[in-house]
Amino acid sequence: MHKQIGFLSLLIAMCATVGALGQSAAASGSEAHRPQFHFSPKAHWMNDPNGMVYYNGTYHLFFQYYPDGTTWGPMHWGHATSKDMVHWHEQPIALYPDSLGYIFSGSAVVDVNNTTGFGKNGQTPLVAIFTHHNPALEKQKSDKFQYQSLAYSLDEGKTWTKYKGNPVVQNPGITDFRDPKVRWFEPQKKWVMTLATKDRVTFFSSPDLKNWSKESEFGKESGAHGGVWECPDLFPLDYHGKKAWVLLVSINPGGPNGGSATQYFVGDFDGHHFKPYSTQAKWMDYGTDNYAGVTFSNTGNRTILMGWMSNWQYASVVPTASWRSAMTVPRMLQLKAVGKELFLASTPVTELNKLDVPAFSLKNLTVHNQFDLTAKAKNETGLFRLDLSAPNTADFALVLANDKGEELTIGYNKQANEYYIDRTQSGKTDFEKGFGKRHTAPRLATDSNLTLTLVADVASVELFADNGLTVMTDIFFPDAVMTRLHLKSATGITINKITYSKLTPSVSIN
Ligand code: FRU
Repeated sequence: MHKQIGFLSLLIAMCATVGALGQSAAASGSEAHRPQFHFSPKAHWMNDPNGMVYYNGTYHLFFQYYPDGTTWGPMHWGHATSKDMVHWHEQPIALYPDSLGYIFSGSAVVDVNNTTGFGKNGQTPLVAIFTHHNPALEKQKSDKFQYQSLAYSLDEGKTWTKYKGNPVVQNPGITDFRDPKVRWFEPQKKWVMTLATKDRVTFFSSPDLKNWSKESEFGKESGAHGGVWECPDLFPLDYHGKKAWVLLVSINPGGPNGGSATQYFVGDFDGHHFKPYSTQAKWMDYGTDNYAGVTFSNTGNRTILMGWMSNWQYASVVPTASWRSAMTVPRMLQLKAVGKELFLASTPVTELNKLDVPAFSLKNLTVHNQFDLTAKAKNETGLFRLDLSAPNTADFALVLANDKGEELTIGYNKQANEYYIDRTQSGKTDFEKGFGKRHTAPRLATDSNLTLTLVADVASVELFADNGLTVMTDIFFPDAVMTRLHLKSATGITINKITYSKLTPSVSIN
């Protein structure tokens, strides 16, 4: 049933295709808010990134997908591939719902040692580990309607076979029991699964991805608990030759600026237990639009994350007609110390630089009230990257604006020592009462100069402050492209340096 594309879906897909082809500079109508270098599905509903894995020169992005509508529905795994994480090509759906349920979030690994035995004649299997969500059991008010299953591919992710022994992790009676993220733990030669189990994370281990034993739990007494825990990820990062482990946990609702967001903990992991250095929640991104982000498998010594660039608070009502939502740009994750504490820092992957069309650079720029950059920027598309360094001595802001008088403001508030993004006047906001807000994020860095990298793509901004220590991702829906750009500072400030590049669109229809 799910394989049939109805006539209406086909028509919508065709319209989206035409839009995607003819858009870049002058996107209009239903494609007006289509991102130009972020992945978005040609048509229909998307949420979490799933099964991200790098294999044989290709990055695979699977995603929660409902191919029959623009709001959430029975979940499939959509699929897209890329050679560089910047140019994405949408592929046929990878996983369809079956008699065990919908295909919820999960991960994928390269089973190099063929621990599963799925590989025949020396083939290396790609194995997806995902949650089956059984709507029939849910209806019967059972609390065991989510369990973990496997599928494998022997042709580099093109086609998938579900494992006959599914499910591989049965539900012990926990209503929220989902989103397995699996990695190989070399010291003990075993797989480790990090699973969201309602108000905590549960770790399991396995020699072969098929037989799992519970190791431990973490988090009931730690971190933020304003909503259910979802989409965890556990990975090591080096810090000056030492290894620390980062545990990401998405939470919905309960984010620092409302709705969904991702908290994290830094600590040690010995293959059995996670021990945090601090039980306080830290936030990976203070904007409202980076959710369910997890890392790619198999990317060597880089740890790369992409998140869903939306928020459950309004994802179903955002004003895009034929598709819903996009992913964030891929971000490289690192640990940075502030005082004695370690924090996660995110910065756009360097592959993004290939879209740069350098436009101008200015030094020692004094801003009194306002400095207009519009003529220099010549920004017809709303796609740019701006790098700025300024002393932390005064308030200042960058304003994106359009001919309709709409504005999006990204700034630094000296007195509060915080960054903010204000989308109250940014265009369409009335589709949800909490959307048109000003979001804030504490400045963590203590250096006297602050640095900002801002990446803008038609209807989103991603702010990486202080080399990624404070991050904010916000979407917005202007009624015309934000072609104007100015700096403002009521008290006056001299910006050390500002570098601006236009970005080339990288979306294509295949
Ligand atoms: C997170 C989430 C996951 C779940 C999926 C369902 O956004 O709720 O916990 O697996 O979305 O689409």
